[in-house]
Amino acid sequence: MKRQIQPSTVERMMREDDFIVSKTNPKGIITYGNPIFIEFSGYSEEELLGSQHNIVRHPDMPRAAFQLAWDTIRAGKEFFAYVKNMAKDGSYYWVFTHITPDFDQQRNIIGYTSVRRCPKRDAVAKVEPVYRLMLQAEQSAGPRDAIAAGTGVLLDLLNQKGMSYEELVFSL
Ligand SMILES: Cc1cc2nc3c(=O)[nH]c(=O)nc-3n(C[C@H](O)[C@H](O)[C@H](O)COP(=O)(O)O)c2cc1C
Repeated sequence: MKRQIQPSTVERMMREDDFIVSKTNPKGIITYGNPIFIEFSGYSEEELLGSQHNIVRHPDMPRAAFQLAWDTIRAGKEFFAYVKNMAKDGSYYWVFTHITPDFDQQRNIIGYTSVRRCPKRDAVAKVEPVYRLMLQAEQSAGPRDAIAAGTGVLLDLLNQKGMSYEELVFSL
């Protein structure tokens, strides 16, 4: 169903004091969304709960970005990123996200929590062309090699700058 949404050029801006919060099970199925998530996504709580978190995925986002996210959080580490999301009506909203694993007493991962804040505009302006290059590389590589191609673009940039991914994100 979500594949049929036509992305629009309408942007919705997070306010300075907004926090978009959601929780998932270990497979990325949404188990909680706060009222601001419901507001920005344009979906009802009923539609969100039980859906895959890719329900708000924007087609402009490169696949390699999500691969890096999942590799990081599955390894039990926190992950930060600027992300372009798509609401139910096709409009988009940029966020600065922090995803963390939730552990039980034995340190098994029992789910994930994401808290998103209003992104810095100049950071979004710097991230956008990087994602565009990653996406172009993914599209020309074809589905099978897409993630490797997108990751390659990011790794080249990090090498060029002599930075880790986290250093780059926090330098923006
Ligand atoms: C806690 C949590 C929050 C997430 N939040 C988002 C989000 O806001 N937007 C998004 O596109 N993907 C988000 N994801 C990643 C999605 O699960 C998914 O990997 C991504 O949308 C790519 O979907 P696809 O593999 O179907 O293309 C989140 C994952 C987790 C675990």
